[in-house]
Amino acid sequence: MLGAPGAGKGTQAEKISEQLGIPHVSTGDILRAQIKDGTEYGKKAKEYVESGELVPDELIFDIIEDFINSDRARNGFLLDGFPRNIAQAEKLNRMLEKAGAELDKVINIVVDNEEIIQRLSMRRICRDCRQVSIFDQSGDEECGRCGGTLIKRKDDREDVIRQRLEVYDRQTHPLVEYYRNKGILVNIDGTGTMEKVTERIMDSL
Ligand code: AP5
Repeated sequence: MLGAPGAGKGTQAEKISEQLGIPHVSTGDILRAQIKDGTEYGKKAKEYVESGELVPDELIFDIIEDFINSDRARNGFLLDGFPRNIAQAEKLNRMLEKAGAELDKVINIVVDNEEIIQRLSMRRICRDCRQVSIFDQSGDEECGRCGGTLIKRKDDREDVIRQRLEVYDRQTHPLVEYYRNKGILVNIDGTGTMEKVTERIMDSL
């Protein structure tokens, strides 16, 4: 899954992996869980994640390699948030080659920056189950799934959102061309209802 921050990668990864019956891995979710638990790994990642910078590549590679080589990934998988730059994409090629696998498709969800900023400033996540939701004007601060407290991600402050968009343009967006040249890129309009976006992705597969 490729796309700018807030394009809907996490939302769609969950729906698509459910429909296809394959696991998905989100590097962002793993990093936030490690930060929340205060692990050594989380301590190393915290400053980067909360300021909107990418964490160093080496901190990500082991997570992805372990996942690709695990039993869970045997029947296919969906990656959300990795790769994030050309070096990570090249590393992914080597990992997949070693595992005898290859990428079928790269789904690039496209949403303009104005809508992204609006979505991210309204986003809340559940402190307990990490479910993503949208803050509504009713002021309801409870998770619809588990009843836990909804919180705002530290990197969803407007200044950090802008920084993440800048990092995306500079480091991640070149992957669009990279995968287009490999003939496996699919551009998906990420606007409209979440269900409509899922339908577009499923049709493209
Ligand atoms: P990560 O968690 O991957 O963040 P991101 O790429 O910035 O993406 P987001 O999670 O913000 O957005 P999303 O596209 O998943 O949108 P969502 O579905 O939530 O990474 C965070 C940080 O971790 C990075 O900045 C970096 O520091 C680090 N990191 C992670 N991976 C790394 C890597 N490989 N290398 C180095 N560093 C790495 O949707 C957004 C909101 O919109 C939600 O509220 C949702 O409900 C709503 N929404 C979704 N779809 C729609 C729709 N169709 N209409 C209206 N609202 C919608």
